[in-house]
Amino acid sequence: MPPSPPPYLVDAQQFPGEVLRLLAERRDDLVAAGASWADVVSDQLRTQVRSGSFLGAIWRGPGDEAAAVIGWQGAGTFGRRGWLYLARGHRSAGLLDRLLRELDQDGRPPFVGWSGQIPGLGPDETDAVYQRRGYTPAVRAEMHLPPGTVISPRPLAPAFSTRPLSDRDEDAVASLMERVYHGEPERALFATTVDEAEDARTSVHDIVHGGIGKWLSEASFGIDHDGVLSAYTLSNAHFGGLITELGVAPAFRRRGLARALLARTTQSLRGLGFPEPRLMVTMWNDRAVGLYRRVGFEFTPGGAERVWVDLRAFGLARGRAPVEA
Ligand SMILES: CC(C)(COP(=O)(O)OP(=O)(O)OC[C@H]1O[C@@H](n2cnc3c(N)ncnc32)[C@H](O)[C@@H]1OP(=O)(O)O)[C@@H](O)C(=O)NCCC(=O)NCCS
Repeated sequence: MPPSPPPYLVDAQQFPGEVLRLLAERRDDLVAAGASWADVVSDQLRTQVRSGSFLGAIWRGPGDEAAAVIGWQGAGTFGRRGWLYLARGHRSAGLLDRLLRELDQDGRPPFVGWSGQIPGLGPDETDAVYQRRGYTPAVRAEMHLPPGTVISPRPLAPAFSTRPLSDRDEDAVASLMERVYHGEPERALFATTVDEAEDARTSVHDIVHGGIGKWLSEASFGIDHDGVLSAYTLSNAHFGGLITELGVAPAFRRRGLARALLARTTQSLRGLGFPEPRLMVTMWNDRAVGLYRRVGFEFTPGGAERVWVDLRAFGLARGRAPVEA
């Protein structure tokens, strides 16, 4: 039996008033830091607290006061993801370190990823604490294609043919997605289980069935090679037109498939009334960043978010090589 959680980490549902107070404080800090999403997200969290569905914890600090609130983002089968907020007056690298240690020891599955810069702590200070505890920092940045920019495809070899995807392609996309992300540190940002096939199926299902706004089959394309799906884009209506996924089978990279798909996808998104297609990219993903810049995407000011992931939990390390056991 796992040990019971220490008394200083308590289920958020026991203290809804404290949680609401800290969420309001967090919202103000995020707005002051220019986070455009702060209001929408805070409203969602407040609704969850009031309905009893908020998943998280309050950390009662050294003087028994509510010193931090932690939110869990979904419960993976092997680890959890979350965000945390240190209350005003409790912001120091030392307290963050102590909180992370206590969270690791609370007898529940370990955290495998943290998202969001903590208001009041500098990025370097926060990086240092997370790194000491084994997490790797990453920056997720939003990019957009300015309205006047058009992507010109290069001719593809005749064995390739491009077509729109339908929900009948779900299994084929999932199986390709598994191969696309095999061994890539990117996987650690989204994975919910160590089983790569199950993970890809869950991701595609989520994207296609409403987990990220409405799926836009008209702006999601596949490229077949001799009849076998070898590259794909998936797009959703999520605060505008979002290219949610792009992947090319390892054997067919650097042949212009991604460029061709981005040309078709952005053109279709515009046809659907989304003049400025967006996407999110991890800054350590040099290939993707290089590709998007080359075809004309630009970084959206204020659109970057810091996350910290435990690559070891996935047998991954930076540099796309599996970690030796
Ligand atoms: C990123 C990815 C989609 C690129 O696909 P691709 O088909 O190899 O890319 P393309 O051949 O269409 O390349 C398009 C442009 O990007 C550039 N590019 C491609 N690979 C590159 C690399 N390894 N380094 C730098 N630039 C690169 C090319 O120079 C090319 O420019 P050009 O058309 O002017 O010559 C592919 O590597 C992949 O599936 N990676 C894993 C999944 C992933 O990271 N997806 C993106 C998530 S945000």
